[in-house]
Amino acid sequence: MSEHFQVHGGARLVGEVDVVGAKNSVLKLMAAALLAEGTTTLRNCPRILDVPLMGDVLRSLGCEVAIEGDTVQITTPAQLNHRADSASMGKLRASVCVLGPLVGRCKRAVVALPGGDAIGSRPLDMHQSGLRQLGAHSEIEHGCVVAEAEGLHGAQIWLDFPSVGATENILMAAVLANGTTVIDNAAREPEILDLCTMLQQMGGKIEGAGTSTLTVHGVDALQPTEHRVIGDRIVGATWAFAAAMTRGDVTVRGVDPHHLDLVLEKLRLSGAEVTIDDSQTFRVVQRDRPAAVDFVTLPYPGFATDLQPFAVALASVADGTSMITENLFEARFRFIEEMVRLGADARTDGHHAVVRGVERLSSAPVWAPDIRAGVGLVLAGLCADGMTDVWDVFHIDRGYPLFVENMNRLGADVRRI
Ligand code: EPU
Repeated sequence: MSEHFQVHGGARLVGEVDVVGAKNSVLKLMAAALLAEGTTTLRNCPRILDVPLMGDVLRSLGCEVAIEGDTVQITTPAQLNHRADSASMGKLRASVCVLGPLVGRCKRAVVALPGGDAIGSRPLDMHQSGLRQLGAHSEIEHGCVVAEAEGLHGAQIWLDFPSVGATENILMAAVLANGTTVIDNAAREPEILDLCTMLQQMGGKIEGAGTSTLTVHGVDALQPTEHRVIGDRIVGATWAFAAAMTRGDVTVRGVDPHHLDLVLEKLRLSGAEVTIDDSQTFRVVQRDRPAAVDFVTLPYPGFATDLQPFAVALASVADGTSMITENLFEARFRFIEEMVRLGADARTDGHHAVVRGVERLSSAPVWAPDIRAGVGLVLAGLCADGMTDVWDVFHIDRGYPLFVENMNRLGADVRRI
């Protein structure tokens, strides 16, 4: 039987919490280490399940991977194996980010279609189309993406949608291509800026980092580097929502508050007092019942789809009715069925959810369908009468370091059973 969390309702979260490096950055930076022969060192890495899983993917390609505390060291050989182990690939979504570096370095790659959260259809057409425009052939064969190129050349690439994964794969192939590549409508997430920064430290020539137009001048080779992973804005926002929902007072350290500008503005609209203490610290204080606020998910700098479950959880206890629109992953609303078990007054219609806030939720056994929805259910459990059992918490372990410890340090009563 899998582990579950017992969440005792009624706590008010108060105190300080430290946030470490971002899951959705470190996994891509680990893939980027494939681009340079030698030892790359990453610091401020989160102790989450996905990091050793990504380590296994890199080992199957011939790398040595050492994980010690918050440091990950990857030693990349001169000759990489171009075929990633299928079982390891299937355990996480970010494994697909080895595709670009492998095509860049080996000119060929065979990688099984990745795993990851069941949050809706997650095609790879833009990844493949980008690699094709750089000169590679790419097909899906026997459950694997197969890509091969005689040589890669620069190209002008327009993405249909600012996909995070496609931007990362094309970028990592283009840094070693011949000539200049321009990626237009590129994703602008802070984790992409972090990747650009590391690639620049490795000798990559990239202009426009952090904007929707990335210009990459290909170089012959990159050097390994040492890099500190940016703080996890999604985890930081989780604590901000937890404070707002429990009428708490939480100071979050280790995340750039500007990565959460829109999120913090939404929480202000819900009645929270938000103060920015410095470039890595902010505080959220909520004194009364939160007011209802509408949310619309969009690529960065829009409201992140990863935070949508917390928006639903907040709306479920807010004063008034909220409309939540999900524009990225249609299946992310499936967790609302679990929220309804907890007494939420919520219904969905296509991309929209209408949530009428109730004074108090009521505890029930619920199942975490993915990382963020699992955490959303824990936050809802904090606002429920009685004890809520949240099952399938292995999802939460994939993305949240020391989750139970941090919760309890802030005054919650959450037990891992
Ligand atoms: N899309 C396509 N074709 C493609 C690629 C994407 O149609 O070739 C569509 C997707 O179906 C989706 C949209 O584009 O509708 C956005 O997908 P994107 O490629 O940006 O997402 P991703 O790279 O697969 C990352 C994060 C997700 C996060 C999204 C959006 C990682 C490992 N995953 O996924 O994080 O929700 O960006 O911000 O970085 C999580 O951490 O819980 C998580 C799911």
